[in-house]
Amino acid sequence: MRIDVLTIFPEMFESFLKCGMVRIAREKNLIQIVIHDLRDYTHDKHRQVDDTPYGGGPGMIMKPEPFFEAVLSIAQCTLEDLPKIARVILFTPQGKIFNQHLAGELAGEKQLILLCGRYEGIDERVHEHLATDEISIGDYVLGGGELPAMVLIDAVTRLIPGVLGDECSLAEETFSRGLLEYPQYTRPRDYKGWSVPEVLLSGNHMEIAKWRRKKSLERTLRRRPDLLKNAILSEEDKKLLEEIKAQLEI
Ligand SMILES: C[S@@+](CC[C@H](N)C(=O)[O-])C[C@H]1O[C@@H](n2cnc3c(N)ncnc32)[C@H](O)[C@@H]1O
Repeated sequence: MRIDVLTIFPEMFESFLKCGMVRIAREKNLIQIVIHDLRDYTHDKHRQVDDTPYGGGPGMIMKPEPFFEAVLSIAQCTLEDLPKIARVILFTPQGKIFNQHLAGELAGEKQLILLCGRYEGIDERVHEHLATDEISIGDYVLGGGELPAMVLIDAVTRLIPGVLGDECSLAEETFSRGLLEYPQYTRPRDYKGWSVPEVLLSGNHMEIAKWRRKKSLERTLRRRPDLLKNAILSEEDKKLLEEIKAQLEI
C-alpha cells in the first residue's frame, strides 16, 4: 500500500514516521508513505496556498489549484480516472466519523492520498470534485489535518497483514468484534495489595476464555452499550449478557 500526504507542515511527520509500528512497516516495505509539501505545487514567489474568503468573513481559505495539481501529479492520471487509482481523503470536522470499520476498509486499498487542511479549511471545489471521502476524527475542531492524517495512518497500518507480530491480538482487541476488550494484567501478581484475578493464574484456558468474554461483554454494557446493537453475539454470549444484566440490575 502507498499513502501520500499533502500538507503545508511536512516536518510534523518526521518523528511519527520514524517510530514504532509505522517505522517497521516501512522498513519491511509493507507500506510506502510519501509526505509532500503543498507549497511545491504553487507558482508564485510567496508560494501562497491560501486566500481570503469570497463573501467576506474571518480567516483564510486554502486555494483549490495546489491540491488539484498535486493530487493529479501524484496519481499520474486525469481527474476522470482518479477514483480508479486512489482514494483521496480530505480531513474535515464535517466528514464521516473515522472508526475501526473504516480503517479496515482503507487497509485494503492500493493507494490513499490524504489532504490536510489548515486555516478556515479548504475551498469547497476540492471537497466536491477532488476528494472521494471526507473524514473527521471526532466532534471537535483541530488546527489542521495533520494529526487526523497520523491517526488514520496509524490505525490503517496496523491492519495491514504482516505489520503486527501477533495477528491474534487484532481479533481480540477493542472494536474488532464489536465489543470492548477485556481487562489485561501483567507481573507483578500482587501490586500494593491489588491482586490479579485468580482465574488468570489457573492455567485453565477454557475458564480464562469464558472470564474474558464475560468481562468484555460487561465492559461494553457499562461503557458503550451502543456497540452491543451491532456486535456479533453467540447464544452463549446472550446468556452471559442476561446474567450480567441481572447482576448489575439493569
Ligand atoms: C480549523 S479547521 C477548519 C474548520 C472549518 N472552518 C469548519 O468549521 O468546518 C482546519 C483544518 O483542520 C482539519 N480538522 C480540524 N478538525 C478536524 C477533525 N475533527 N477531523 C478531521 N480534520 C479536522 C481539517 O483539515 C480542516 O480543514
